[in-house]
Amino acid sequence: MRLPKLLMARAVFPEVLDRLSKHFEVQANQADTVWSKAELIERLQGKQAAFTTGGDRIDAEVLAACPELKICANMAVGYNNFDISAMTAAGVLATNAPDVLTETTADFGFALMMATARRITESEHFLRAGQWTKWSFDMFAGADIHGATLGILGMGRIGQGIAKRGAHGFGMKVIYHNRSRLDAGLEADCKAHYVSKEELLKTADHLVLVLPYSAASHHTIGAAELALMKPTATLVNIARGGIVDDAALAVALKNRTIAAAGLDVFEGEPMLHPGLLEVPNVVLTPHIASASIPTRLAMANLAADNLIAFAGGKPPPTPLNPAVLARS
Ligand code: GLV
Repeated sequence: MRLPKLLMARAVFPEVLDRLSKHFEVQANQADTVWSKAELIERLQGKQAAFTTGGDRIDAEVLAACPELKICANMAVGYNNFDISAMTAAGVLATNAPDVLTETTADFGFALMMATARRITESEHFLRAGQWTKWSFDMFAGADIHGATLGILGMGRIGQGIAKRGAHGFGMKVIYHNRSRLDAGLEADCKAHYVSKEELLKTADHLVLVLPYSAASHHTIGAAELALMKPTATLVNIARGGIVDDAALAVALKNRTIAAAGLDVFEGEPMLHPGLLEVPNVVLTPHIASASIPTRLAMANLAADNLIAFAGGKPPPTPLNPAVLARS
């Protein structure tokens, strides 16, 4: 029996490649080369399936050029690299990798908030540069986490994980804003209070962004929103580049409109707005919020589960456009 053909857009754990190789004729990319759109299209010719990551854009142009494509499995919970309506129109199934990364990502969001508030990387750079010659009473004094007001914008599974850590572990007062309010049971679990976006911006001591990126959430935080925040506040973005206007944030950090920021995602990453590299009051990490070995393995295996289900004629576990399944 001929196996369907699968393109791996990026490198992956060898054991996941081995699993997939039992169900697909696999073209791997273990050299982890990042392809241009034209190179991706060229390699997708004749392939029914693709294993993608958040950097691999599947849009109408790719779909039109790759008529044999039937499924793209994203090794990410976010899927703004997929044009879902174009995929649905083309009859291409899209899947993502939710849930398995929730706790690891919430851990990281919390860690980034703490590092930002307590100026951990800024002080390490000072020390490594040989500038620590004496202790002083206000050296790298930052903001407290315990007892502070934690604001969360985007209260999905990861937002709820951060809220629980703050409320139960650090005695934080938790406020949140979301497209829809959580039910009373979930609010109680998170000890979280629903507020307007304006109140969230004005009240939070530490504001964490965990909302999905879409055209509607582009530049949710720009100069006007930053101006509403407390000058002592910190901002953490573990959601997606583009949710924050990075140019406006660089100015706000320079002018101390807010005290500090922690950023794991950037507009146009892996490029960064140069202004962010010029200010000391920002902690910068290269999109690693879900990067623990067990979680990255679970994400890769979930993407593989989706592909293997497709190869076996079964419904994939985490489809994004199940309408395609209903049609086939
Ligand atoms: C990471 O950013 C993801 O969406 O999984």
